[in-house]
Amino acid sequence: MTDNHFLILGAGVIGLTTALALRETYPSSNITIVAKHFPGDRSIEYTSPWAGANWASMAHDNGPLENYDRITFHKFSEIAEKWCEAGIGRMGMWGIFDGSLEEVGIVTPETGKIWYEELVGGLRRLKDEERPEGSVFGLEFGSTFRINTQVYLAWLQNQVLSRGVSLVRREYTSISAVLKDFPKATLLVNCTGLGSLKLEDVKDMNLYPTRGQTVLVAEPKVPIERMYFRSPKRIDPETTYVFPRPLGGGVILGGSRQDGNWSGEVDMELARDIMERCCKLCPELGKPEDLKVIAHGVGLRPSRKGGPRIEVEKLSNGVPVVHNYGHAGAGYQSSWGTAEKVMKMVKKALEPSARL
Ligand SMILES: Cc1cc2nc3c(=O)[nH]c(=O)nc-3n(C[C@H](O)[C@H](O)[C@H](O)COP(=O)(O)OP(=O)(O)OC[C@H]3O[C@@H](n4cnc5c(N)ncnc54)[C@H](O)[C@@H]3O)c2cc1C
Ligand SMILES: *[C@@H]1O[C@H](CO)[C@@H](O)[C@H](O)[C@H]1NC(C)=O
Ligand SMILES: *[C@@H]1O[C@H](CO)[C@@H](O)[C@H](O)[C@H]1NC(C)=O
Ligand SMILES: *[C@@H]1O[C@H](CO)[C@@H](O)[C@H](O)[C@H]1NC(C)=O
Repeated sequence: MTDNHFLILGAGVIGLTTALALRETYPSSNITIVAKHFPGDRSIEYTSPWAGANWASMAHDNGPLENYDRITFHKFSEIAEKWCEAGIGRMGMWGIFDGSLEEVGIVTPETGKIWYEELVGGLRRLKDEERPEGSVFGLEFGSTFRINTQVYLAWLQNQVLSRGVSLVRREYTSISAVLKDFPKATLLVNCTGLGSLKLEDVKDMNLYPTRGQTVLVAEPKVPIERMYFRSPKRIDPETTYVFPRPLGGGVILGGSRQDGNWSGEVDMELARDIMERCCKLCPELGKPEDLKVIAHGVGLRPSRKGGPRIEVEKLSNGVPVVHNYGHAGAGYQSSWGTAEKVMKMVKKALEPSARL
């Protein structure tokens, strides 16, 4: 076990979480994260800092996607309890929909249920007078998670550093070029998000960006007591959300979903529209003109036709590559579950029979 030398390409929420899971599974291995961007960087090529972010599962497959989110929910619970400085906090949420329960994509077809009802401490139907005009129904999530992404990414980085993981800042044009520079590597995990649509080896044409824009505003004097979410469907370009972040994170207002759009420029018209929608949804914010804007954000979700790719591929030089990318709008809420799946693939890839 001591001679395992793992390389992780990418230091977003996925690469950092994968590094921690590897360290737990292989305590005496050498683990190196190689990436162009690390926590603290702000770039349109680096999605993780721009996320909202919260746990509100979009999965309804009665299968692996629900499982990734379930595992992550339990891990967030443990982290929030043990390390308040990690930037993950519990909070309830109002989810408001402009379509009927059957139409909005939150029920698992196989079971006819919302799979996470118990997990989030129950889903109470909002009373008609609690819902904004024009909406069809609303659900109060008893308790889920909101994430201060700035604090959480830095915390993950500290966790890996304190466990002897090496960090190397470099940009590569192909996976084979990485392996050439690290000849001792026994396995590489590909956590590059959208970034390596540019990697030369194999271009995954199923990947595409889903642009998201947000506004970070100052915290109102009266604290906002819950998260708000309103949408025609669970996944929709017109989704509006208000996430009060913990630990001085301000309040994040969203959002937008623009498939196939690579623009990193702030669209001020869209920003005004987001602020208007959010003030209507969350009266505690006041009027749009009262909002104290601190920053505008633009991020590109790493979307993928067919869902996230978590599988092993053996390159011609014999070093196995485990892919862990394409988490779309669910990279935080599925991070620990997908990392657990990666551990299973790593174990299998390192079995003596697999090495032949
Ligand atoms: C507006 C918005 C709101 C969101 N809200 C939520 C939410 O509420 N909940 C949730 O769970 N998710 C949310 N997401 C999604 C989440 O942000 C992403 O799924 C997640 O950040 C993807 O992480 P990643 O590590 O795969 O990619 P990234 O964070 O993009 O990291 C990629 C890493 O790979 C490196 N890299 C890439 N190519 C190369 C190369 N060639 N050489 C060297 N390094 C390379 C980069 O430098 C970087 O370190 C949201 C996203 C957006 C944009
Ligand atoms: C782990 O590997 C990296 C890259 O090959 C190397 O620079 C580093 O010194 C190694 N760390 C340990 C603790 O052996
Ligand atoms: C690594 O993942 C990216 C997507 O992030 C993909 O485009 C690329 O083909 C992968 N690299 C290899 C060598 O498979
Ligand atoms: C991409 O989004 C930006 C910002 O909203 C917008 O101005 C632009 O027209 C969009 N581009 C395409 C090709 O849709």
